[in-house]
Amino acid sequence: MSTFHVNQVRKDFPILDTKIHGKPLIYFDNGATSQKPTQVISRINRYYENENANVHRGVHYLSDQATQAYEEARTNIASFIGASSPKEIVFTKGTTDGINTIAYSLGELLQVGDEILISGMEHHANIVPWQLLCERKGTILKVIPVLEDGTLDLEAFSRLLSNKTKLLSVVHVSNTLGTINPLDFLIKQAKSVGALVMVDAAQSIQHLPIDVQTLGCDFLVFSGHKVFGPTGIGVLYGKLDLLNSLPPYQGGGDMIDQVTFEKTTYQEAPLKFEAGTPNIAGAIALSEAFHYLNSLDLQSAFAHELTLGQYLRANMKDLPSMRFIGEAPDTCATLSFLVGKIHPLDLGTLLDKQGIAVRTGHHCTQPLMHRFNIPGTVRASLAFYNTQEEIDQFIIALERSIHLLS
Ligand code: ALA
Repeated sequence: MSTFHVNQVRKDFPILDTKIHGKPLIYFDNGATSQKPTQVISRINRYYENENANVHRGVHYLSDQATQAYEEARTNIASFIGASSPKEIVFTKGTTDGINTIAYSLGELLQVGDEILISGMEHHANIVPWQLLCERKGTILKVIPVLEDGTLDLEAFSRLLSNKTKLLSVVHVSNTLGTINPLDFLIKQAKSVGALVMVDAAQSIQHLPIDVQTLGCDFLVFSGHKVFGPTGIGVLYGKLDLLNSLPPYQGGGDMIDQVTFEKTTYQEAPLKFEAGTPNIAGAIALSEAFHYLNSLDLQSAFAHELTLGQYLRANMKDLPSMRFIGEAPDTCATLSFLVGKIHPLDLGTLLDKQGIAVRTGHHCTQPLMHRFNIPGTVRASLAFYNTQEEIDQFIIALERSIHLLS
């Protein structure tokens, strides 16, 4: 029996009681960022009110406490994603920062003609860093095509793989389509040609159970703010021996072992990749977000979310001129759509007037928009604190908006 009580859980998220333009907020923009439970908000306050000090630097009490809390956060997050050691957890600014770290550091070891394989449904953050690398090092970027239903062309993927493929960097769940990519298959195939694999888990860590060791990926990145934590903090997971074999990305305090003007030596991972004072409060609050998730019946929470996604799709599909972008059999509760010739921005604006937050536009996936020959979509992206009643209200508001714009 489900032990997920959505109305109880909603009480943990104060913003969900807000009114927008006089209407109760219906927050369907969780793909852009998630809302924060009181537990996370209070943890940030508690840190700044009682515990603030720099980490890894002082002998004084507060510095020691802050260091302990920061390192405990690393341990807690390692355990949440099944890493074999806290040393495999590098704190970053977010997913983009994590990908840029690997693109730079791993990129330093690549040669002219080496290939990086990504997919046609990547966020710009998993495209542009590789293009920069290709310009810098003469590596070659290859792209797995996306089929009409919003899944990856797996036959083309197998053809694209070769012993020149040094890295597969692929999104787990598409931020635009909601498609869940078959990571087990992708990783196994990539490994068979000796490629490394990086997973962009920015849109999956908050929806699906993740165990990096079961997955067998080499790197995995995500952002704190999409998983109920603060902005400006993220995680780069990397297998420890790999992280230690890479050159650092940025230089500065805390990442060094010894500095002289002649030669500098570096710390081992993860500190080698954490130059400068880190986002201490962010890391501690992100860990609190995972504590919070652990306090829920996560399996039921995820099941609730999936049921909501199916309910949303079922209730939208018969609306006149409705076109879903992406109809993969395996999706998270993220749905992109267009209605006839109505511009997504107009729909989004009218929905906002009725208290409903959705995202409109290209969702930082312009190549995917080109693939479907569209300028953008309206995207509804759900989280476990959404309800069936909100979907019913959304459908009424959507019908009203379509009527006004037709
Ligand atoms: N990448 C975020 C989104 O999909 C911002 O909305």
